[in-house]
Amino acid sequence: MQPADTDLQAVEPVEEVGVKESPKPAFQSASINFVKEGKEVVAAQGANLRIKAIENQVDLYTFGGKLMNCGGAGQCGTCIVEVVEGMENLSPRTAFEERKLKKKPASYRLACQALVNGPVSVKTKP
Ligand code: FES
Repeated sequence: MQPADTDLQAVEPVEEVGVKESPKPAFQSASINFVKEGKEVVAAQGANLRIKAIENQVDLYTFGGKLMNCGGAGQCGTCIVEVVEGMENLSPRTAFEERKLKKKPASYRLACQALVNGPVSVKTKP
């Protein structure tokens, strides 16, 4: 039995109407300036600050933190950095940071909890 002609009809492409958005770039970058180390690092937007530091051999931890840290789980509070510039380009403080950094200056962040969305300058081990 032959299929009916209507089963094989091609679908005509529908012409798009309305305002077209300009295509977004596939990769948006953010730069991280590690002030003490004199290192400028380019990261993908939304990159984790602790991971970018480790990837670029930037030492975040003091002696105690090196011996015992939570590996970025937001539990130990040893990955503190001071944000010198670009605080507005980091993700908001997490609930854990609010607790752990309660008595610290507002410019302090936990690197493992901060996502980078634009240019920032940070000091490690403040
Ligand atoms: S590595 Fe433990 S809180 Fe950031």
